[in-house]
Amino acid sequence: MSELFYKHHVFFCTNKRADGRQSCEDHGASALRTYAKDLVKEKGLAVAGGVRINSAGCLNRCSEGPACVVYPEGVWYTFVDKEDVEDIVEQHLVKGEVVKRLLIDKD
Ligand code: FES
Repeated sequence: MSELFYKHHVFFCTNKRADGRQSCEDHGASALRTYAKDLVKEKGLAVAGGVRINSAGCLNRCSEGPACVVYPEGVWYTFVDKEDVEDIVEQHLVKGEVVKRLLIDKD
């Protein structure tokens, strides 16, 4: 089996629904995704074998969002501001610890 290309691959939903239903972009998802990407770069993690931050279309967690998911762990987070994004980057992506307060699936 080949090695993983990224240690953590993070997908941020940046979807904006045209029909008015709740969507992640209503809560500034694109700006916070850019902030996450900048933080990861700043910390020197944006390299092969490191961390990749990507935009995604709807991840089907719309009512629980804004949503992002970290793979390969499959850990789902919500976030509302830069402080939340900083915690996801610092605690999960740097230290490998799940940020329990931001989990979508808390059980
Ligand atoms: S709009 Fe973001 S999960 Fe559906």
